[in-house]
Amino acid sequence: MKNNSTCLIDTLRQRRQKLAELIDFPAVFWSGNSSPRNFPANIFPFRASSHFLYFAGIPLPNAVIRLEAGKLELFTDDPAPGSALWHGEMPNREEIAQIIGADLTYPIAELESKLEGAATIAVQDAATWTQQTQTLGRMVLPQLPPEGLDLELAKAIVALRLTHDAGALTELRKAAAVSVEAHKAGMAATKSAKLEAEVRAAMEGVIIAHNMTTAYSSIVTVHGEVLHNNQYHHPLQPGDLILADVGAETKTGWAADITRTFPVSGKFSSTQRDIYDVVLAAHDACIAKISPGVEYQDIHLLGCITLAEGLVDLGILKGDPEDLVARDVHSVFFPHGIGHLLGLDVHDMEDLGDLSGYEPGRKRSDRFGLGYLRLNRPLRAGMLVTIEPGFYQVPAIINYARSQYKYLIDWERVEQFADVRGIRIEDDVLVTDDGSEVLTVALPTDASSVEDLVNTPVPL
Ligand code: GLY
Ligand code: MN
Repeated sequence: MKNNSTCLIDTLRQRRQKLAELIDFPAVFWSGNSSPRNFPANIFPFRASSHFLYFAGIPLPNAVIRLEAGKLELFTDDPAPGSALWHGEMPNREEIAQIIGADLTYPIAELESKLEGAATIAVQDAATWTQQTQTLGRMVLPQLPPEGLDLELAKAIVALRLTHDAGALTELRKAAAVSVEAHKAGMAATKSAKLEAEVRAAMEGVIIAHNMTTAYSSIVTVHGEVLHNNQYHHPLQPGDLILADVGAETKTGWAADITRTFPVSGKFSSTQRDIYDVVLAAHDACIAKISPGVEYQDIHLLGCITLAEGLVDLGILKGDPEDLVARDVHSVFFPHGIGHLLGLDVHDMEDLGDLSGYEPGRKRSDRFGLGYLRLNRPLRAGMLVTIEPGFYQVPAIINYARSQYKYLIDWERVEQFADVRGIRIEDDVLVTDDGSEVLTVALPTDASSVEDLVNTPVPL
């Protein structure tokens, strides 16, 4: 039986070997630098570049790896002499090399002499892409689409990271399991909470207690209609719904992404329950359809049609559901895509733009109902995707749609659903050889079970 460090090294070696089968030039990955918060010694938590993590396995700040023909050279400096006083004893370069299975190691100053003909991927933080630009002697900017060898490297990385190996899946399952527990804690804390912030604290407390971090800024809000709401100051009122979109990230960077929507009082109103069940029907229909070979865009459209059917049944939309979707009427209430890739990034490889999410030759649609679709590829076994249909009453969209869709939406009926500002239900779904596996299935989605979780007091 292999121990954890041997497994990590085997996984990393296999990834490097696979990269070597796709490119015949060296690839150099910077891990990134920590950013100062308000003075140099007070830093934001460090998050290594995902491409670095994929091949190096651990979040080393200010390190660089050079990969060629399956071999890894590590460039990093030993800790500065005074560092042990403030940060404790840290592994030196040779020890790190052993952990990640490096073939050769050098001080960082030697990097410049080893960069000829090397491709790279821009790291997001300015200090690092400036360093990349200076040492490579050419502009490397996260905002610029990669070109030349950098583009070839980006394509190779997408080919590798689109599907997950066993090492990645072990981590992704851990992130999913902790996120499920976090959501349960958030629901259980709701009835005694006065503010959104308290529910967030209960959720993130579970993640922190597992020595993980959040994979993105948590959304815990009674204003779910603000899609990426990062405010937590609103008081909780008995008729409110809380939309909680919270996911954990493991120490080595692998993410989960779960959304649940639950009633503050522990009981959905009849209007909330009606819409909730429509969103859930879309969620379930999409997940049931996931299988290798199926187009993700078709899953998105199935979600849209299922939503439209439910909204027609409730008297909110008027007409034939397929026709309504073809005319983008559903997107008044569901403006975003059905989901995205998930892996080391919550929107996996979104730093590479649509190179990751879109099959070669495909472009974003300029249709309102399709333009925010982040993934447009046929599904393959080993891909991990989210499924996250929703229903939102976004004031700016509603105001516009009132004149645009005067006859296809029953606006008087819409007003009866004023207590539904935002509902989303999101799970993480692995494409398997013969269908799918929901990694987050342990967190119930049906309305009654969600109510039960809210009505379960926090254990003392
Ligand atoms: N979890 C946030 C998002 O998927 O955009
Ligand atoms: Mn998501």
